[in-house]
Amino acid sequence: MQPRTCLLVVAACLAAGAVSATQKLQERYSWQQLDFVFPNQRLKQQALARGDYVPTNGLPVGIERWENKLFVSVPRWKDGIPSTLNYIDMNQTPSGSPALIPYPDWSSNVAGDCANGLSTVYRIKADKCGRLWALDTGTVGIGNTTQQLCPYALNVWDLKTNRRLRRYELRADDTNPNTFIANIAIDMGRSCDDTYAYMSDELGYGLIVYSYEQNRSWRFAHSFFFPDPLRGDFNVAGLNFQWGEEGIFGMSLTPLQADGYRTVYFSPLASHREFTVSTRILRDESKVEESFHDFQYLKERGPNSHTTSRVMSETGLQLFNLIDQNAVGCWHSSLPYAPEYHGVVDRDDVELVFPADVKIDDEEQVWVISDRMPVFLIADLDYSDVNFRIFSAPLATLVAGTVCDVQQPPFGAIQPKFGGVEAAPGADLTATYNTDTTLLPTTYSTGSFTPTLSYAPTVAPQAPKFTQSYDTPTSHMFSTQSYPTTAKAYGGYGKYHDYHGGAPQHHAGGYHHGPHGHDGSEQDGGYSGHHRGSGGYWHGAPHKKQDSWKQYFY
Ligand SMILES: *[C@@H]1O[C@H](CO)[C@@H](O)[C@H](O)[C@H]1NC(C)=O
Ligand SMILES: *[C@@H]1O[C@H](CO)[C@@H](O)[C@H](O)[C@H]1NC(C)=O
Repeated sequence: MQPRTCLLVVAACLAAGAVSATQKLQERYSWQQLDFVFPNQRLKQQALARGDYVPTNGLPVGIERWENKLFVSVPRWKDGIPSTLNYIDMNQTPSGSPALIPYPDWSSNVAGDCANGLSTVYRIKADKCGRLWALDTGTVGIGNTTQQLCPYALNVWDLKTNRRLRRYELRADDTNPNTFIANIAIDMGRSCDDTYAYMSDELGYGLIVYSYEQNRSWRFAHSFFFPDPLRGDFNVAGLNFQWGEEGIFGMSLTPLQADGYRTVYFSPLASHREFTVSTRILRDESKVEESFHDFQYLKERGPNSHTTSRVMSETGLQLFNLIDQNAVGCWHSSLPYAPEYHGVVDRDDVELVFPADVKIDDEEQVWVISDRMPVFLIADLDYSDVNFRIFSAPLATLVAGTVCDVQQPPFGAIQPKFGGVEAAPGADLTATYNTDTTLLPTTYSTGSFTPTLSYAPTVAPQAPKFTQSYDTPTSHMFSTQSYPTTAKAYGGYGKYHDYHGGAPQHHAGGYHHGPHGHDGSEQDGGYSGHHRGSGGYWHGAPHKKQDSWKQYFY
């Protein structure tokens, strides 16, 4: 071979090596920037002209798959996000860069329309009863541009009819002035009614529980929800930053166990440590007062193991994003929770930069979205490059060959090898602390979970204001005509101000320079819970000014 050829071959090999690609995760969708399916071109042009749609301002953060729908959430951090809860019809567009379709329709995605619309949605979850759960934070903006237009409200839809079954506003006592909730987990018991939602308050350091059956919520506080002061330093995509205040974030639930409950695994974001609590505790409102010893802690995952998103399969296999490693990790819950039992199912320094959400669907298919979030927040995305990607792969393919590839007998025969005994109330926690072992869920009742199939909504579905679907040419659903869809439009909408929870956010600088119509009530340090005597649509605590964008890391 001529030296020249050799060189060329080497160059080709190097190039091939440099063009990194995920090994097991297959790219399904990718975008340079986000687009939306508008009812028609005229309305799209109008939205572009008005700044109601700014293509470079959208960042997708959450995904969920249900039948042919792949849901994608887009928080309204900046202006020009026409819709926060969206989906892709995977039958129509099995790959490529499809425009997102608002779910369930445009009129349900109007920011600041508290009763009917969604302002910002992060994580979404479809359950086995064909319901979609999403928590609306009620906010637009990010960091010091944040406006709390509406109270936090949990929304549940019937995916078969696309009708909203429920909208539940969190109680004032569920939140505090620092509250920021971007994550939810859904705990299904023996029936569709017997379902609980858990919401992690990352900056207010709480865990809020909602019972679908009781239509009530309550809030747990625990020091395990706090960040670890030694773990607030992050390195992602060549950027170094500190997210030191970030508390409880990712949560995953085990399958139902022999005792009829699940175990919740959770971790603060600024932490490498995993904690657990049984749903037996969380489901019991009376435990709010006294549950310190019911929470357990596990080992640290090891260096560079911050994680925001995790999910557990029906066989007890947990997947979690490793945001500092551009990777997705795994751990099988029949093994001790220790670094040597953690695997990496895929890693990619280009395509998996910030794997923001990880899901497992009913067919044991894994879904991952990566979105380069820190670059979006701290620097600037290059919109000539592919920035957002959605991958999928069968769970079995992903874990094959990793330490997590635990073959298990079909019917719940996982033996708790390392304990599994919860500290008795009042027990000496130091004893638990010193054992340094993993406390395991008790035997799984894998395969026995059969939610009643006769799911009937317990509430008469509310008649949607607009029922036509997005592609009906005569639809009124693209409602920029009658409603603002972006934060900057709120200045002129006095009616929404009645819904402000306490003090308007102070947002000098930042993204919103227009008049905000706060009637001069916007003051420095406006934490005083200024209410406009509106009959108190929302009595929540006044929301503290957030002093930097990082607190609104989702
Ligand atoms: C749930 O409670 C809220 C008040 O917290 C109420 O507005 C709503 O109608 C209730 N829904 C059901 C189904 O009971
Ligand atoms: C708002 O946050 C941005 C980004 O951190 C910062 O540049 C700006 O100075 C802040 N403005 C105020 C008024 O705090």
